[in-house]
Amino acid sequence: MSKKPIIVFEGIEGSGKSHHISVVSKYLNKKKIDYIKIREPGGNPSSEKIRKLILNNKSDFDKNTDLLLYLAARSENIKIIKKYYKKKIILIDRFTDSTIAYQHYGMGVDIKIIKLINRYLLKNISVNFTFLNLVNKQNLYLRLKKRKKLNRYDKFNMSFYNKVQNGFLKLANQKIKSYQIINSNMDIKLNEKLILKKIDELIF
Ligand code: TMP
Repeated sequence: MSKKPIIVFEGIEGSGKSHHISVVSKYLNKKKIDYIKIREPGGNPSSEKIRKLILNNKSDFDKNTDLLLYLAARSENIKIIKKYYKKKIILIDRFTDSTIAYQHYGMGVDIKIIKLINRYLLKNISVNFTFLNLVNKQNLYLRLKKRKKLNRYDKFNMSFYNKVQNGFLKLANQKIKSYQIINSNMDIKLNEKLILKKIDELIF
């Protein structure tokens, strides 16, 4: 029987986290290991509604409204996480670190309020491991340019993404044992191998 950790994939736009989470899903499917996969914002029908609202290009919320919407979406997701916590492997495409990286390091919202509400929502739930995907400015620019449709959060300037990525790095350095940094500017196949090797260590 496998262990049942919560494994989070973090990183800025174009950092390859969604690609890697799908590689891990396929790997677990192949091994017939039960897991659930969710994303934030989104994850269940109610939080997907909130996702649409936040990321819609016509939305013009201020940073506090955004924060509360991301947390509202999380509140809906927590119900699923609670249901499967320690019963199934839980893969999450973005979680609490994204809120600190984007809303605090990127937008300047008070970190204390973010941590307080995260604690209130998560209670005894804790993340076991995080893959932090990093991308350089050039690749970020090229990858965003390739996207057919850009949402409201795909359109910030490079200095914003730089602040957010540095924020993620600060978080990783505070808990380095439960993070693996993936350099998404390197060969993608090599990174897939590194991630799957770590996944084996985490679940077997
Ligand atoms: P995605 O495109 O990776 O699904 O993420 C949507 C956007 O939401 C992305 O730009 C990061 C942003 N985001 C926050 O700003 N705060 C959060 O708490 C979360 C979960 C996402």
